[in-house]
Amino acid sequence: MNNRILLAVCGGIAAYKAAELTRLLRKKNVEVQVVMTESATQFVSALTFQALSGNPVQTRLLDEYEEQAMGHIHLARWASSIVIAPATANMIAKLSYGLADDLVSTLCLAATCPIYVAPAMNQAMWHNPVTQENIARLKQRGISMIDPEQGEQACGETGIGRMAEPASICARLIGDKPYLMPQTNVDSTQKTRGILEGVKVLISAGPTREPLDPVRYITNRSSGKMGYALAEAALQAGASVTLVTGVVNLKAPAAAEVVQVETAEQMYHAVTSRAQEHNIYIGAAAVADYAPVQIKEQKIKTQAHESTIILQKTKDILAAVALLPHRPFVVGFAAETHDLAVYAKGKLVRKKLDMIAANWVGKEQGGFDRDENSLHVFWHDGDKVLPMTSKTQLAQQLIALISKRMNEKMAAKIAL
Ligand code: PMT
Repeated sequence: MNNRILLAVCGGIAAYKAAELTRLLRKKNVEVQVVMTESATQFVSALTFQALSGNPVQTRLLDEYEEQAMGHIHLARWASSIVIAPATANMIAKLSYGLADDLVSTLCLAATCPIYVAPAMNQAMWHNPVTQENIARLKQRGISMIDPEQGEQACGETGIGRMAEPASICARLIGDKPYLMPQTNVDSTQKTRGILEGVKVLISAGPTREPLDPVRYITNRSSGKMGYALAEAALQAGASVTLVTGVVNLKAPAAAEVVQVETAEQMYHAVTSRAQEHNIYIGAAAVADYAPVQIKEQKIKTQAHESTIILQKTKDILAAVALLPHRPFVVGFAAETHDLAVYAKGKLVRKKLDMIAANWVGKEQGGFDRDENSLHVFWHDGDKVLPMTSKTQLAQQLIALISKRMNEKMAAKIAL
């Protein structure tokens, strides 16, 4: 139950709204302890918050008297959640880098409870890529954002940056589940916009070609449509995308960084050398499991009778990514002709994946080289069926599910 809220007030004109937030929380019988940055006290006096919360207000990290009242570590332990409202661009930057040079940032670093951040700033500061990167980093760490609103600002400009209204912050704190980012609706095509803002996604797509001689190769039926749709959906969700692709007949999304490969070996190097710079890896490519031991330099001549090609196992790209020291969130695919759930779950465990999206192949519909597909997605303690639809929509649904699962995984890590 969220009944002990530590309200951290930073220096900005929206500090006056924090007074109203204190009043609303108290009305809901929530115990409120207010801490303020030095600059916040220039906007609203500590006395106002003391009167509204019924508790002494702390403003300094190293103050003998205040530390005696309730030391910062004690305060961090006391809170069932912390809300920073308003949170300035400066405070967001400090939190994203783990700085602890004042009471508010130190408390946040020491806290193990859920933290909510309600930014308030000038619209240009909000849109600045540095601010957006900092926010993305906080989200990745499981900190919940209470997004600012659009409107006229104190500086006279109009745009996004006004702190959310106290009533909606209050509703969020009391009604929300801790740690989670705003829930994404996996059945919606429109709600993925922005959910992967600042996140780097690496996707493999298409088939590999394993040459036998200068003119022949072994390949499979993958068209790349599923992987390319995922790249498009991840971009739409705000991610930056690297697409490692086998040879296909598709136009890659202009905003993606494209790495063209042909063989499984090339795909292995292209993916594993980049994976640690990314937050998510999605292996949608149909990688050859076997490649010829020998690639003949000259065209193999027609034999009178049978001919044998000796194959060797290729390296498992997914499994290798999952073993990297700084592994991204790893999502595999499973293409199955029978016992889909059994094999997919086996691959999830064996390859140490975070998630696996299983699809039927070799059936009437879906799978290879079709515009539609359906997926049965598995993770370690759950699963979800994404019914037959266009690969474009399916990709958006899968991206939403990945984003949700990744946030839950991070939240669980932080909670430990
Ligand atoms: O490209 P489309 O025509 O749109 O078709 C989409 C698709 C059917 C190719 C796609 O949805 C899909 O299922 N991709 C994975 C195909 C596959 O190789 O499945 P698999 O069950 O054999 O492999 C399991 C996983 O291991 C896959 O994520 C695969 O990328 C990965 N793998 C496999 C072998 C290997 N050497 N390295 C790997 O990383």
